[in-house]
Amino acid sequence: MKIDLSHTNPFLDNAVVKDLKSRISDIYKTVFDKTGSGNDFLGWVSLPSETDENLLADIEKTAAELRRKSEIFVVVGIGGSYLGARAVIEALQNHFAPLTGEKPLVVYAGHNMSEDYLSDLLAVLDKKDYSLAVISKSGTTTEPAIAFRILKQHIINKYGEQEAATRIVAITDKARGALKQLANVKGYKTYIVPDDVGGRFSVLTPVGLLPIAVAGIDIRALVQGAAEMEKRCKENPTKDNPVSQYAIVRHALYEKGLTNEIMVNYEPRLMYFSEWWKQLYGESHGKQHKGIFPASVTFSTDLHSMGQYIQDGLRNLFETVVSVENSSHELRIPTEADDLDQLNYIAGKRISEVNHKAELGTVLAHEDGGVPNIRIIVPEISAHVLGELVYFFEMACALSGYLLDVNPFDQPGVEAYKKNMFALLGKKGFEEKTAELNRRLNL
Ligand code: PA5
Repeated sequence: MKIDLSHTNPFLDNAVVKDLKSRISDIYKTVFDKTGSGNDFLGWVSLPSETDENLLADIEKTAAELRRKSEIFVVVGIGGSYLGARAVIEALQNHFAPLTGEKPLVVYAGHNMSEDYLSDLLAVLDKKDYSLAVISKSGTTTEPAIAFRILKQHIINKYGEQEAATRIVAITDKARGALKQLANVKGYKTYIVPDDVGGRFSVLTPVGLLPIAVAGIDIRALVQGAAEMEKRCKENPTKDNPVSQYAIVRHALYEKGLTNEIMVNYEPRLMYFSEWWKQLYGESHGKQHKGIFPASVTFSTDLHSMGQYIQDGLRNLFETVVSVENSSHELRIPTEADDLDQLNYIAGKRISEVNHKAELGTVLAHEDGGVPNIRIIVPEISAHVLGELVYFFEMACALSGYLLDVNPFDQPGVEAYKKNMFALLGKKGFEEKTAELNRRLNL
């Protein structure tokens, strides 16, 4: 994994970068010594190197059993309790997984409250053998709790209480929360989310590892990739580390007023990786009226929708491109004798070559348009590389949060909508809020 800042450097204020560089080793120290804000949520820092062999073996065993008896595997969770798994699974599975007949197909629930979505899912599950993981660290989040209540009844009706219990895995806090109690009472296989790992940093715990293993992906390679990046950070916690470089440069751009970062990929299979990244950065940094707004595009698709704005709109943007050097397949553009479509000038070239030229052309065009481009270059998309990227962005997120002077590990703002929703639903204890909101909504 490499970082290319040549299309960013012209935009940087050298004095600001110098100052940030001088601070970064101390900020690393704050992370490693656990002396910064949110320091009880730093379990992810050494997680890859400390992953217990017994845990990996146990997850693999459970996953093999679930794979054996499932055509569909439903991951019930929201935010950090589903995006990491989805990011890795969608990056590594066939783009047309639902059509290949390969089993099990991983699907998702509890990340929305759409009646139509759940109804369609239930109709599919009526006809398929399935199992599920319900994932909630707190064990009390409304969206997955509703979906799980419905799916639990469905799976019991379908298989009977005893068999259903073997098809449900609960991944939650070790002691607290309604889900833990329910899992204990019903005897579900349970995995624990470590206390000191927050949701959006939990992809390398059973939260991500179990669904990823059920999808047939090598979780050891994923953890190994992350462990290598962990080592790289620990051995060289200086301004020269690519993680530091990314954190420094994005903060320097932010100080110049570039308050929107667009995660760019040229591989549609990375779309959910961007979604995972958006949650990680948005929820970690958007506090006290500060923080870079994380957005994402998939090119070249979105060059035909968002490209105009990025090239020419309000100049408050920069891009971070995850550039993939090698495709897993080889496909060349054929020659045609009549050349009616006038494509013979690229006949014989691989599609990936054309894609790379589009990428390089776009980077330069956007640079000319005043949009700095950070390039993160990886050799391929594999479990190992994804592990490296996960740790890279997690560590950079922590460093960036401390540069911004916010606690990167809490999310107090998420409570506001919940309070209103509970009040509007008439939950006990919210009476005063209910009256206030009803007045405001003229209800
Ligand atoms: O990063 C976070 O902490 C959040 O996004 C949570 O993962 C999300 O709100 C789901 O919470 P829980 O796992 O408690 O259901």
